[in-house]
Amino acid sequence: MRTPIIAGNWKLNKNIEETISYLENFNPAVKNINDIEIIICPPHTSLSAARTHLDNTTIIIGSQNMYHEPKGNFTGEISASMIKELCTHVIIGHSERRNLFSETDEMVNKKVKTAIDHDLIPIICYGEKLEEKEAGLTAAIISKQVRKSLSGIRAISGNQLILAYEPVWAIGSGQSASPSETNILIRNVIRPTVSGLFGSSTSEKMRVLYGGSVNEKNIESFLTESEIDGALIGGASLKHAVFSNIIKIVEKYYNS
Ligand code: PGA
Repeated sequence: MRTPIIAGNWKLNKNIEETISYLENFNPAVKNINDIEIIICPPHTSLSAARTHLDNTTIIIGSQNMYHEPKGNFTGEISASMIKELCTHVIIGHSERRNLFSETDEMVNKKVKTAIDHDLIPIICYGEKLEEKEAGLTAAIISKQVRKSLSGIRAISGNQLILAYEPVWAIGSGQSASPSETNILIRNVIRPTVSGLFGSSTSEKMRVLYGGSVNEKNIESFLTESEIDGALIGGASLKHAVFSNIIKIVEKYYNS
C-alpha cells in the first residue's frame, strides 16, 4: 500500500511571524499522526523558520518552486542546492507557474531533472484548462504533460517521484473535479504513461495526489478512490485548524 500524502501549498501567503504562529498551533494538533506524510510548502522567505519549528517533527517541508540553473545571473531565482539546505521536496510545474509565469513543459522538465539530480523529491503538477476539458482533451493534455516533464530521465523509483493532478479550473474555484473521473485518469493515463517510461514498479509505487478545491467536506470522497494517494491543498491549508482537521479525517479514513 502507498503511504498517503497531504500537502499544503501556501502560495503567496504567510510571512515568518505568521508561519511560526501557524506551526506552533499545527504541530501539537498532528503530532501523533505517523501513517500519513504531511508536507508543508511555505513561501521561500519562511522556509528557514519552518525548518527550525519542524526539526523535531515528522512534518516534511517543501519548496513551492526552484530554478534549474545552479547559480549565476538569474535575479529573483532560487537553486536546488539552496532549497536542499532547508527542505526535501519541491513543487514543480504548478499551473500558476505555467499559466501566470509562462513556464513551459521544457522548463518543467529541466527543473524536474535538476531536482532529481539533487535528491530532492519533485511534486510535479499537471492539469488541463476548462476549454481543454470541454473539448474532451483532458487525457491527451495530461499524458503529454507527464511525458514531457519526465523526458530524458533514465531511471527513477516510485518513491523519488510524486505527481499531482490539478485541473486548472478546479484550483481555488470551489469546484473540485469528480473523484471517480480523477481515479480513471490516474489509472488509465497517468500511471500507464509513467509505466511506459520507467516500468510498472515505479508507476505502482509512485504517489499521485489530487489538487483543486479540496476541503474538509470533500477530502474523503477522493480517498475512497484507489488510485488517489492524497491531496495537494491550497486555500484549505492556510488555517491550521482546518488543515489539521483534514489530516485527521484522512487518518481516520485509513485506520477504519
Ligand atoms: P486550492 O489550491 O486547494 O486552493 O484549490 C490547490 C493548489 O493550487 O495546489
